Amino acid sequence: MHNFLPFAWFEGQCIPFNDAKLSIATHALHYGTAAFGGMRAIPDPNNSKSFLLFRADKHAKRLCQSAKFLMTELDEDFVLNSLETFLVKNKPTQPVYIRPFVYTSDLGIAPRLHNIETNFFIYGIELGDYLSPDGVTCRVSSWTRQQDNSLPLRGKISGAYITSSLAKTEAVKSGFDEALLLNSQGKVSEASGMNIFIVRNGDLITPGVDQDILEGITRASVIELAKSNGINVIERPVDKTELFISDEVFLTGTAAKITPIKMIETTLMSKEMPTMNLLRDKLTKITEGLVPEYENWVKRVNID
Ligand SMILES: Cc1ncc(COP(=O)(O)O)c(C=O)c1O
Repeated sequence: MHNFLPFAWFEGQCIPFNDAKLSIATHALHYGTAAFGGMRAIPDPNNSKSFLLFRADKHAKRLCQSAKFLMTELDEDFVLNSLETFLVKNKPTQPVYIRPFVYTSDLGIAPRLHNIETNFFIYGIELGDYLSPDGVTCRVSSWTRQQDNSLPLRGKISGAYITSSLAKTEAVKSGFDEALLLNSQGKVSEASGMNIFIVRNGDLITPGVDQDILEGITRASVIELAKSNGINVIERPVDKTELFISDEVFLTGTAAKITPIKMIETTLMSKEMPTMNLLRDKLTKITEGLVPEYENWVKRVNID
């Protein structure tokens, strides 16, 4: 049962979610020529009339960059204003996941990105924990993360998610919660919709942006937070075998937040995760708008 917010932003205005419909001939549906964002908005614990959007500016920027890969223009202020109008209209009462979406809306048949109509919509869904905060089991996928020279991986391009879907289903059907994908160089890239971090001898290590990852906003936030807490952060290629001998392994993403990995293949990971716990506690407080130094990471929307 999905609890969608009652209104969608569709073709320039808020309309009832159930009236926001597309033709079966929509170009993006056939070719994956769309890009999306995924953001969380939560009620402000200190103000019942306010909703908090985590790093809305970064999400708007990444979406507009993704739109560039689709060769269409999307303006960051337009995205932010539409999000605000959307939240005010819906007046949510629960934490929500918001999905802004830019896509080729033409009904033409040829796969292309030139001379084609594009459009933009937003909808929202109530969302609690996407992965268990107590930890997940992971397998190394038999599917390889795409290469940046075949698909613009810095964008959240819809078509790319066939690989995530194959990997996630393979993991779940073989008894695991989540998939870890290696890139075409055989190095660890990321999970089906999350970035990955390991901790070794006190260093926080994560695959760099040249490892065919999505440039995750939670990832960037965790790196910044770790550095400001005196943790040594290293962005470098990560070998598969390092996963099994790491002191801590965890995933980051808007949906997953910070999720510990408790088992990889048949290897049980340590239950002691001091680095992850520290970062998770700090990040949670920041997303709740409770840390004045990080006030600029949170956009407050008055939904009254
Ligand atoms: C493939 C993939 N990697 C990583 C992430 C994590 O990115 P973020 O922290 O910006 O949500 C996501 C989720 O958006 C994703 O879909």
